[in-house]
Amino acid sequence: MQIYLDSANPVEIEEALSWGVISGVTTNPSLMAKETGSFAPLVKRICRILGENKPVSVEVLSTAAEGMVKEARSITLLAANIVIKIPMGVEGLKAVCQLSQGVERVKCNVTLIFSVNQAILAARAGAAYVSPFIGRLDDIGWDGIGLVREMVDVFKKHNTDTAIIAASIRHPRHTHEVAMAGGHIATVPFSVLKQMVSHPLTDLGVERFLHDWAKTRRDEVF
Ligand code: E4P
Repeated sequence: MQIYLDSANPVEIEEALSWGVISGVTTNPSLMAKETGSFAPLVKRICRILGENKPVSVEVLSTAAEGMVKEARSITLLAANIVIKIPMGVEGLKAVCQLSQGVERVKCNVTLIFSVNQAILAARAGAAYVSPFIGRLDDIGWDGIGLVREMVDVFKKHNTDTAIIAASIRHPRHTHEVAMAGGHIATVPFSVLKQMVSHPLTDLGVERFLHDWAKTRRDEVF
């Protein structure tokens, strides 16, 4: 399973990338709004940090297909590694169809997916990625991971090559369960990525080794 960073913060992105574990970035309008500076330079900066081979999802804001397509066309000019994020809905499907199946072959990530049917439709329209929001489903008492599991099964049964990006991840257990469910990608906030690294027994182990090492006679090598 690949790990993407769910962030629009260049400092976090650079740091996470240096760990060697990040294969892409997802942003959304709320994440963008937290950052300083204007949209286009920020997108360019994030894409430059990632490099040409790591995708960066950038969301359109229009609500009609025509506007989404127009916006997508200008956003894709900003960098080569941009994936256009489009909200699920009739207008979104129309836009995905035009962008992904037209001459431009723009890669689209259909976002705000909350059911298997929505995922099937997005894939049929030509989405390269679909993003089920597991945390937001859990928040209303539904089963976010259950949705990912069902999507994985359905896509496997029907040889659908659209990648599933599990989004709206709230804690490391979500990432673990997405991997168990066979999700292709988990996009995680930096706070969750940091939690994934740690375990209290690892910290305790390092502390004990250092404590014991302090009592050891050293030779010249160290
Ligand atoms: C990523 O693609 C989504 O926009 C993001 O994970 C949503 O997360 P949230 O539900 O915490 O806002």
